[in-house]
Amino acid sequence: MKFTGTDNYVATQDLMLAVNAAMTLQRPLLVKGEPGTGKTMLAEEVAQALGMPLLQWHIKSTTKAQQGLYEYDAVSRLRDSQMADLDGGARVKDIQNYIIKGVLWQAFTAEQPVALLIDEIDKADIEFPNDLLREIDRMEFYCYETRELIKAKNRPLVFITSNNEKELPDAFLRRCFFHYIKFPDAETMRQIVSVHFPQLKQELLSAAMKTFFDIRNLPGLKKKPSTSELLDWLKLLVAEDISAEALQTQDDKVAIPPLVGALLKNEQDVTLFEKLVFMQNRNR
Ligand SMILES: Nc1ncnc2c1ncn2[C@@H]1O[C@H](COP(=O)(O)OP(=O)(O)O)[C@@H](O)[C@H]1O
Ligand SMILES: [Mg+2]
Repeated sequence: MKFTGTDNYVATQDLMLAVNAAMTLQRPLLVKGEPGTGKTMLAEEVAQALGMPLLQWHIKSTTKAQQGLYEYDAVSRLRDSQMADLDGGARVKDIQNYIIKGVLWQAFTAEQPVALLIDEIDKADIEFPNDLLREIDRMEFYCYETRELIKAKNRPLVFITSNNEKELPDAFLRRCFFHYIKFPDAETMRQIVSVHFPQLKQELLSAAMKTFFDIRNLPGLKKKPSTSELLDWLKLLVAEDISAEALQTQDDKVAIPPLVGALLKNEQDVTLFEKLVFMQNRNR
């Protein structure tokens, strides 16, 4: 099985190579990159292209590694035991009924090979990746409550994404194949946009892309707009029926583009952009 991209997702050559390398090595693919560069979507698309179900685990700052394995719901069991006379207490006696299976458990015991996405691993605390090392490496873990060893029937295809908010431990990195999704160049971005807006007029696209990359290249910008923000903006431009001319310089005057709130998300960046526009106009 090889991943060769999909109709909905533009995968560069090096990204496809990385996916296939991770599959060959049977190691997790660690994907880093700016937000909005298609990391989450990559897992969804690869799973779909290979016909595998995708199990997703979205990490938060409070997520613990154990939650991916299983949790023992002692509170429900206690409550049930207090009402045990109702059904003779059969449910309470079987501890299995109170084990909540996490995504890794589900992935390990699935009948067919599955893909597993551990999304935004850098959100969790520093111990999180280390706590999963053994499970990811050996593809097994022990459930103490039921005294069983959960072993992967099939090795899941693991995707791990990171927005680079935290460094990951070396021992963890050693076990992954790594790929950094670079911010798309103009040509790749064109392809991505045409996947989403096949009918878009070329003039509007060119004008919008110019504005977008001009903004991204502004020195000192606090938050650069991402691919998904460009897509949002284009959607609005189309919905409002804004023409390419409205984005371009008119009568020697550069204006703040319409609906710029889709691209710039804080007032400092808007001010910076306004200053640039002002200076460009004065230098004419
Ligand atoms: N290579 C790509 N091909 C098609 N669409 C893309 C691509 N990269 C990003 N996108 C668009 O950007 C959106 C954000 O992607 P997402 O996977 O959520 O980014 P990330 O997880 O890296 O923050 C997607 O929903 C998709 O619409
Ligand atoms: Mg994501």
